Amino acid sequence: RGHPVYLHHKHSDFNSLQELPDSYSWTQPHDHHLPNYPSNNKTKIFVPVIDLNHPNAPNLIGHACKTWGVFQVVNHDIPMSLFSDIQRASLALFSLPLHQKLKAARSPDGVSGYGRARISSFFPKLMWSECFTILDSPLDLFLKLWPQDYAKYCDIVVEYEAAMKKLAAKLMCLMLASLGITKEDTKWAGPKGEFNGACAALHLNSYPSCPDPDRAMGLAAHTDSTLLTILHQNNVNGLQVLKEGEGWVAVPPLHGGLVINVGDLLHILSNGLYPSVLHRVRVNRTQQRFSVAYLYGPPANVQISPHVKLVGPTRPALYRPVTWNEYLGTKANLFNKALSAVRLSASI
Ligand code: SIN
Ligand code: FE2
Repeated sequence: RGHPVYLHHKHSDFNSLQELPDSYSWTQPHDHHLPNYPSNNKTKIFVPVIDLNHPNAPNLIGHACKTWGVFQVVNHDIPMSLFSDIQRASLALFSLPLHQKLKAARSPDGVSGYGRARISSFFPKLMWSECFTILDSPLDLFLKLWPQDYAKYCDIVVEYEAAMKKLAAKLMCLMLASLGITKEDTKWAGPKGEFNGACAALHLNSYPSCPDPDRAMGLAAHTDSTLLTILHQNNVNGLQVLKEGEGWVAVPPLHGGLVINVGDLLHILSNGLYPSVLHRVRVNRTQQRFSVAYLYGPPANVQISPHVKLVGPTRPALYRPVTWNEYLGTKANLFNKALSAVRLSASI
């Protein structure tokens, strides 16, 4: 397993920064491992919005996955109050003084806790964001942050995770169905397609307002290492997805809507039919942006491979079987190799 090339352990108090420090300045191209794709401002194209109660939802989802790797859903049956509750918890969390947040700091090798974006070690520059990662119960973390007050925030997170787990299972069934795969074809789906053993993580993200948004990057371009991701954004713009032939396309917040990303593991499972979507977050001068990402993957011991129904003489399996953990290790190695190549070519 490779080690990240860049280790950013220092934390910043964004509120105290009046100008953008050089360590946060992403000069062109913004994403050193990518060509400098243009922003799409002229033609108005939109990420598909799908009504989950629409009788044709599976086909609409299939088409969106194939052509975009991302879509928004409405009519998902999650009460609006749950979104305002989780946003309130997020606001309370990120408004704590830095020294308090650091009591719940993620350890260098740890997964849960407060810190920079998980992908930040792959990039030479720092991102203008903070992230709080929660695995299962937030109790331990919240006890450190709010010794008196933790219970009400814990309840909100637990309720949010339960709602996401149910929706993720429903989306899995729909996405698999759109590939011609039934729950009977998927061993770990369970009899009712409830995907009970699924693993998940919750990311609470905050993007503070920024003195120099054009040079800063909220979250660098990446694909999610998940089966799928369910994202809720507050009412502040910033999320962009890369659409082939179009460049970066904004995904404006939709009241009550949720953004669904195809992740790398679904890309593998679909034998390349559903591409995982490349996305990033830009920041702005005046408004703080919050998002909540539910990262959904298989049980720890389950290997994901191109589904047998999608493999045949004309379409060989494009990927080998991997567990979630193995995949994360491979991806880190790839990132690091790409970085070494960039640094090598830069030094020639
Ligand atoms: C993410 O990609 O994990 C978060 C995206 C967002 O904040 O909109
Ligand atoms: Fe992401």
